[in-house]
Amino acid sequence: MTQDELKQAVARAAIDYVVEGEIIGVGTGSTANFFIDELGKIKHKIKGAVASSEATAARLQSHGIPVFDLNDVSSLAVYIDGADEITPQGAMIKGGGAALTREKIVASVAKKFVCIADGSKLVDRLGKFPLPVEVIPMAHAAVARLLSALGGEPKLRMKDGQPLLTDNACYILDLHGLQIADPVALEGQINNIVGVVTVGLFAQRGADVGLLGMAEGVKKFTY
Ligand code: 5RP
Repeated sequence: MTQDELKQAVARAAIDYVVEGEIIGVGTGSTANFFIDELGKIKHKIKGAVASSEATAARLQSHGIPVFDLNDVSSLAVYIDGADEITPQGAMIKGGGAALTREKIVASVAKKFVCIADGSKLVDRLGKFPLPVEVIPMAHAAVARLLSALGGEPKLRMKDGQPLLTDNACYILDLHGLQIADPVALEGQINNIVGVVTVGLFAQRGADVGLLGMAEGVKKFTY
């Protein structure tokens, strides 16, 4: 099976977690995109979705799925999203698609976080994937100095020769070379740095369910 076929398989499996008649929280990225395409097939069964990025909102709308503003929604039964890395305990690195802040916000409102990913994302220890940190643009150099002191090498994420701008008009620092022994503690430590909007560690509130695409089929994990 190709990586895309594994992503498609978990996207299909995630449909079982969609609660009929509800508004669904939807993540960002290639795996989330496969999920949106599956959601489009059963759109008559849901009220709509809350999107974690402008790209996701556009894809949901292209399927005719109503997109709700999070401010108009008091709770979500489920949030479904991919990950860049996930541990056997359900802690994740996210933000490869630069949507980490909105992802964390939408996930925080959901009763259940279902992580969908191909099996290559399963790791014993987080940190091989550079850790994304969304920062206020005027603070990026100051934050980078403090992140360096943690032992990693921060690099400003670029696009077309310019710093990449997130949906929140902020920058991303990708922190390379960290071995993350205690993701819960590090999440708090980095979020406490002035100028940081959000760190892409999802450990204090990790996944509740993982659907990981393996050669032998979709493996389900509950955390
Ligand atoms: C976007 C994310 C994605 O969930 C993560 O990057 C995984 O993406 P993909 O499904 O394309 O592998 O956090 O900000």
